[in-house]
Amino acid sequence: MAQASDTPAALRRTAEEGARLAGRILRERFPKHRTIEFKGGIDLVTDADRASEAALLDFLRQRHPHHAILAEESGAWQGTDTFRWLVDPLDGTTNYAHQVPHFCVSVAVEGPEGVLAGAIYDPMLDELFSAAKGEGATLNGLPLKASPADRLERALLCTGFPYDVRERPDLPVGLFTQLILLAQGMRRTGSAALDLAYVAAGRFDGYFEFGLKPWDIAAGSLLVSEAGGVIVHIDGRPFDVLKGDVLASGAALHPLLLAQAKRFLDALGWTSRD
Ligand code: IPD
Ligand code: CA
Ligand code: CA
Repeated sequence: MAQASDTPAALRRTAEEGARLAGRILRERFPKHRTIEFKGGIDLVTDADRASEAALLDFLRQRHPHHAILAEESGAWQGTDTFRWLVDPLDGTTNYAHQVPHFCVSVAVEGPEGVLAGAIYDPMLDELFSAAKGEGATLNGLPLKASPADRLERALLCTGFPYDVRERPDLPVGLFTQLILLAQGMRRTGSAALDLAYVAAGRFDGYFEFGLKPWDIAAGSLLVSEAGGVIVHIDGRPFDVLKGDVLASGAALHPLLLAQAKRFLDALGWTSRD
């Protein structure tokens, strides 16, 4: 049965609180020595990822014992309600491990009709991005609006590369190569969640990436749409957190970016992996 703590506004407050709590742990540990393990060839996990996740999961379980959770480092927890939390305790682990202060906590909750609320917290800049479905997106409480840019040559774009880029470079490197020649500039920041938050804030005009996971994109997708931007599957189908090939931008740039993505995918003879 739905409870007062399950409204999008209440879930957003929970997401904000949880993101801040976990972010404090990341900030405290940032200057200290860290333990690094490899999950794959270039895919890391540190003691900070694990400490942040443990604290965040404790908090969510206390607040919502019946909700399901999908967390990057510890996997899936079955709940008895229809709500599911998607948790990235440290997005930007490679930056963190190299002492680059650009990373965040990303936490979102979805119901049967998609993402209802989410928060992304950058503890180094003390920037809290959050959104609730139908209630807009904010940065430290102030409303966010995606970019009005309508020309690619004036657009600052952003992208990222998946951990299997060495095995499958054609998509991420190919579209990067096409768009870098058309845009004003292109950034690779190392945190997909912050990339989407920056699209919501109008800092980046557009963003694309292949091979992302639900915890990377759930909160950011809601931020973008609640800020008046557009986020879709990279081939133009509706966004789905389980399909991690995404294209996001301000509304005016969207048709231009999508046309470029489709031109690229068609030339490659790409058929979706989903
Ligand atoms: C990664 C970052 C990065 C993106 C990768 C993600 P992690 O997440 O968001 O920007 O390019 O695809 O996996 O491993 O730092 O949580
Ligand atoms: Ca991530
Ligand atoms: Ca992570």
